[in-house]
Amino acid sequence: MLHLLNHPLGAHIMTHLRDRTTKPVTFRTLTYQIGLLLALESTREMQTKEAVIETPLETYRGQVLGDNLVLVPILRAAIGLVQPFTDLFPDVSIGYVGLERDHETAVARNYYCKLPQLAGRNVLIVDPMLATGGSAAQTIRLVQEHGGQNVSIVCVIAAPEGVRAVEALDPKIPIFAAALDRELNSRKYILPGVGDYGDRLYGT
Ligand code: PRP
Ligand code: URA
Repeated sequence: MLHLLNHPLGAHIMTHLRDRTTKPVTFRTLTYQIGLLLALESTREMQTKEAVIETPLETYRGQVLGDNLVLVPILRAAIGLVQPFTDLFPDVSIGYVGLERDHETAVARNYYCKLPQLAGRNVLIVDPMLATGGSAAQTIRLVQEHGGQNVSIVCVIAAPEGVRAVEALDPKIPIFAAALDRELNSRKYILPGVGDYGDRLYGT
């Protein structure tokens, strides 16, 4: 279930993110901006609860957000996407999963996992790159082992291989992405892509 951003601002931001001359300071700002658009898109179906307030003139029956949103950023590159979510949803709970791909095999190794209560909550797994889908698949399994049932993936760029890997686990898991790229190269980097997202963010 792939949902692609369809907004001229998204296309503008993606072009500058992809530009090899974009420096980390600008790359971080662009990541924040695309994160805001993805935060809006990925929470479109979020449930609200009724709230009755008094306007200066009369009683108003409105809707407010509940506290059922959990963000699970995959360290390290997804740290750049946390603030847009916390700025829009200040009550979001955040769990962290640390994964690092081996440079030779591209298989991710889990080195950290701290998750809040997940049962009955909407879990957004956030990672800028869905390449082979190995990191996303490991995180989906960790989230499910901790009781999370309602899971979505939020990424900046998805590769067809990554989408297929998530669909193979469960075709009903929504994937929200700013772009669907062409393919992976022999080292499992996304083409055209942005290169190594963590390196671009942190100047490493
Ligand atoms: C990158 C990226 C994803 C992962 C995606 O992380 O941030 O987590 O690769 O690749 P996959 O879909 O093939 O698993 P990386 O392993 O480079 O770690 P880093 O964020 O610490 O740089
Ligand atoms: N991780 C990245 O940072 N970039 C890619 O192209 C693939 C995985």
